[in-house]
Amino acid sequence: MDNQFWLDRWVEGDIGFHREEVHPELVAHWAKLGLPPRSRVLVPLCGATPDMAWIAAQNNEVIGVELSPIAVERFLMDHRVRHITMDEMGFRTYLGGRYQLWCGDFFALPKEVFSGIDAVYDRASLVAFPDDLRPRYAAFLARQLNPGTHVLLVSLAYNSSEMNGPPFSVPQDEIEKLFSADFEITVLGTNDVITGNAGLAKRGISALNETTYLLKRKPTA
Ligand SMILES: C[S@@+](CC[C@H](N)C(=O)[O-])C[C@H]1O[C@@H](n2cnc3c(N)ncnc32)[C@H](O)[C@@H]1O
Repeated sequence: MDNQFWLDRWVEGDIGFHREEVHPELVAHWAKLGLPPRSRVLVPLCGATPDMAWIAAQNNEVIGVELSPIAVERFLMDHRVRHITMDEMGFRTYLGGRYQLWCGDFFALPKEVFSGIDAVYDRASLVAFPDDLRPRYAAFLARQLNPGTHVLLVSLAYNSSEMNGPPFSVPQDEIEKLFSADFEITVLGTNDVITGNAGLAKRGISALNETTYLLKRKPTA
């Protein structure tokens, strides 16, 4: 699975992960981030999620990062965002309203972009990465985020012998392995979401748990 896999999925419209509604866990737990107005919120692997519009509507700046220009342009069209584009540091950036959307590989995102980040929202981003890339993603976030920065993370867990990802199953013990050295981890809640995920049920899984975590970057030694 490489970047081309995701680019092709957007070209083919094979985007079962995309939700038209704002994710309920985002709304339920947002206040726990305790952000002041006009905070800068990073949304890695943002796709075209309407969650970005909800975050912006709470009076925040949204910095999205996404490989596919189709996804970025769909978001801007869906939310009627007037924008300009710029080519900088190997990315095409789309700037408009409260959005700064970086089109390119998350792992190539310039360090400067992280300097003013107040919080991160991850829904279906960590679980989009296969086994070998998840430690890289966790380490990259830890390296780039300032101490005290919160990450609201919505993860999935299922019996991985029943289905091949993405989305990959990332249960709580793996979350701890990935993040506990650099982040304090609070479990905010777990929901059984198999009934709302007919597409994944069709792929063979019998149970699906969605767990939301609040991570806080620890001070660096
Ligand atoms: C499972 S989707 C989730 C999208 C979004 N978070 C949501 O909730 O709808 C994963 C997205 O990440 C993008 N993606 C995958 N690998 C990426 C990478 N290395 N850098 C930036 N975007 C990436 C894909 O194109 C896809 O849109």
